Amino acid sequence: MQILDGKSLSQKIEHNIKNQVQELQTKGIKPSLAVILVGDDPASHSYVTMKAKACQRCGIESITKRLVSSISEESLLLEIENLNNDNLVHGILVQLPLPKHINTNKILEKISPKKDVDGFHPFNAGKIFYGLDSLTPATPKGIITLLKEYKIDLVGKNVVIIGASNIVGKPLAALFLNENATITLCHIYTKNLKEHTLNADILCVGVGKVNLITQDMVKEGAIVVDIGINKLESGKIVGDVDFANVSQKTSYITPVPGGVGPMTIASLLENTIKATQGNI
Ligand code: GUN
Repeated sequence: MQILDGKSLSQKIEHNIKNQVQELQTKGIKPSLAVILVGDDPASHSYVTMKAKACQRCGIESITKRLVSSISEESLLLEIENLNNDNLVHGILVQLPLPKHINTNKILEKISPKKDVDGFHPFNAGKIFYGLDSLTPATPKGIITLLKEYKIDLVGKNVVIIGASNIVGKPLAALFLNENATITLCHIYTKNLKEHTLNADILCVGVGKVNLITQDMVKEGAIVVDIGINKLESGKIVGDVDFANVSQKTSYITPVPGGVGPMTIASLLENTIKATQGNI
């Protein structure tokens, strides 16, 4: 069993990004990411802080706009419009989830597709499905980058993804499909989950349920990618996979923490550079 070490790859990527930032600075360009955080969800606060720190490490300017949860949809749309029109801002990210009174799709559609570093705008989502170059959602992008770093061949592989969100599962399915893998996308209405997971050469799980994947659900030699982030009462962070037991059967597995999480951040930084260079 080999660990897919997202932490060390993310450090390598950050090193490259630092160099790209320096090159842009010689042209008088300072890459800049605006992050909008609405309300006081503790998990969102912690993710946003991690993103800002990563920007700082790489010399990317980051502006975090903290807005009260009672903000109107109209005011939030206006905030985005201002950032769209600000030439000094290259990337815009609205941390999700948003409060219930705000229509998330309407907000995401307001972000200029050229500044959409999360790749959540329907224009970018469509480009991903067509296999066109685009700003790609950070978690799926990070997963593919990590698998490729370990020279894992994806062609014709049975890839089973559990969790069909717009943020992770759906774009991840599209990216694997673009690599000519065979995709099964499972979700809460999927019957006989184990029948699917046992067929997986590559199993990706991201639903936020501790120990959802147990040893009996995984094929011998499979590759397991754990996208889950769960905080136990003890404060310990774990994924959705029973790591201690499942890892005995896998050829490769991502740890939590230190697997997909740091790759998500690194991919966001890559997207910010791409948006700054304007080559999208
Ligand atoms: N909430 C959970 N994951 C993400 C993400 O990747 N981007 C944003 N903007 N919000 C999230």
